[in-house]
Amino acid sequence: MTMKLIFIGPPGSGKGTQAKRLASRFGIPHISTGDILREAVADGTALGQQAAPIMAAGQLVPDDLMVGIIRERLTKADAKKGFILDGFPRTLVQAEKLDTIVSGNGQGDLRVLQLLVPDEAIVKRIALRRTCAQCGAIYHLENQPPAAKDVCDKCGGALIARPDDTETAVRKRLESFHRQTAPVASHYKAKQLLREVNGIGPVDQVFERIEKSLN
Ligand code: AP5
Repeated sequence: MTMKLIFIGPPGSGKGTQAKRLASRFGIPHISTGDILREAVADGTALGQQAAPIMAAGQLVPDDLMVGIIRERLTKADAKKGFILDGFPRTLVQAEKLDTIVSGNGQGDLRVLQLLVPDEAIVKRIALRRTCAQCGAIYHLENQPPAAKDVCDKCGGALIARPDDTETAVRKRLESFHRQTAPVASHYKAKQLLREVNGIGPVDQVFERIEKSLN
């Protein structure tokens, strides 16, 4: 089965955590626009230099840049058999462009999964998130702690708190989610492509709910 899945959800709702698992289950790429941008920031590219202050402030990078990144990424060979998009589309303009790109590439219908997590749970989750600076693995100091303090279980890289995980930036990201990304969910609901999954509970349980909703 070809899987072309979009994950929608507020910051910290578990999109990255669940998308990585699903991608390895289905053998398709996990395409995270946040990861692509963080890599560009780490590499100091022109894109990274433009995106860094916007991301740190919890705001959105301009649509034309993001659409260009995804347009190019989806033409790569590994995306032909499916993909999981995490963090894109985030605005109605991005959603409309994506619909055109996917139909133009002959990639067929999308499925859209929205993770539902209330704002207050998000603020708590993000405060204790740690990410591997080397491989991007995601941890939580209470819910998914690494075996050794500040060291990634998978690659031995250093675990860091993201610069946009301050409470002020998280509140801004939540506001932007409700204002700019919630209409994306409505867009796909109107097309009857949206499935909603409760994102509260242990990671394994949320994964089971996602699998069930995709079957
Ligand atoms: P991005 O990286 O996409 O950030 P985000 O959407 O804010 O999402 P997060 O990565 O913060 O959270 P997540 O849902 O993946 O949760 P996670 O699995 O880590 O984007 C960053 C920035 O880039 C944006 O603010 C913007 O500036 C820019 N950008 C990116 N895409 C863009 C676009 N398309 N257009 C414009 N700008 C764009 O989980 C969070 C924590 O909770 C972890 O610690 C995890 O261990 C824990 N956790 C996960 N599941 C559970 C659970 N079930 N129970 C308890 N804890 C859990």
